[in-house]
Amino acid sequence: MSITYKTPEQADKMRVAGRLAADVLKMIGPRVRAGVSTDELDRICHQYIVEVQGAIPAPLNYKGFPRSICTSVNNVVCHGIPGPKVLKDGDIINIDITVIKDGFHGDTSRMFHVGEPTVLARRLVDVTYAAMKLGIEMVKPGAYLGDIGRAIQRYVESERFSVVREYCGHGIGERFHEDPQVLHYFDPSRGKGEELRPGMAFTIEPMVNAGQRHVRLLPDGWTVVTKDRTLSAQWEHTILVTDTGFEVMTLAEGDTL
Ligand code: MF3
Ligand code: CO
Ligand code: CO
Repeated sequence: MSITYKTPEQADKMRVAGRLAADVLKMIGPRVRAGVSTDELDRICHQYIVEVQGAIPAPLNYKGFPRSICTSVNNVVCHGIPGPKVLKDGDIINIDITVIKDGFHGDTSRMFHVGEPTVLARRLVDVTYAAMKLGIEMVKPGAYLGDIGRAIQRYVESERFSVVREYCGHGIGERFHEDPQVLHYFDPSRGKGEELRPGMAFTIEPMVNAGQRHVRLLPDGWTVVTKDRTLSAQWEHTILVTDTGFEVMTLAEGDTL
C-alpha cells in the first residue's frame, strides 16, 4: 500500500462525502438523550444516510462489522457496536460516522454528553477535543506526520490523561483505511515519519483515556474498552493537506473547528 495524493476533482468528492458525514452527526445530536438505545441511534442514522443523503454507511459489513455506525459509551474506547444498551444521564458517547458518496469516504466522530456531565467527563471530552485540534493545526506542507502525534501526546499527558496507542488515524479516499497511519503519540522508532504534501487526506482521531492507556478487545471482536475501566473519549475529522496548510473536510455548513 502507498499514499494516494488527491487531485482537485477527487478532493471535491471528498468534500461532499465529508460534509455528509458531518451532517449525520448534526442530525443525530438532538436524539442523543437518556432513554434512547444505541440501536435506535444506528437505525436513525442508517435511514438518513441511505434515504436522505443517497450515500452508503461505510461501517456496515466492513470486515464483518454488523451496524452502520459505531457507538462507544463511557469506558468503550472505539468500535462500539450499537445494540439494546439504553443511554442514561451522565453517560458520554462517541458516535463515529463514515459515509461513502460517489466513491469517496468521509469519516468523522464526536462526543456527546447525556444529561449533566460529571466534572471528570467534561474535562476528558474537552481535553480530547483540544488534542485533536492541536494535531490538526500541525498540518501543512513540509511538516511531518510525527509532528501531529507529538503535539497530541504532549498536551494530553500534561493534562494527566493517556493516549491510546493500538488504534490510529489513517489515510482515506476511495478506500476507508489507506496509508499512512497517523499516530496520536510520538514513536521514536518511526521518527518524524512521512513529510506532508498537498493532496494527502487522512483522519486525526485521538482516543484519550482518563486512566491508563491500555485497552482490551471484548470477545465480540470489535468493542475496545479501557483495561482499567476508566472513561475514554475520541473526536475525529478528515483532513486534506492544502498548498498552505489544512482543510477540515468533515465540517457541516457554517461550522468551524
Ligand atoms: N470509523 C472508524 C475509524 O475512524 C472505523 C470503524 S470500522 C468499523 O476509522 F468497522 F468498526 F466500522
Ligand atoms: Co477514521
Ligand atoms: Co471514524
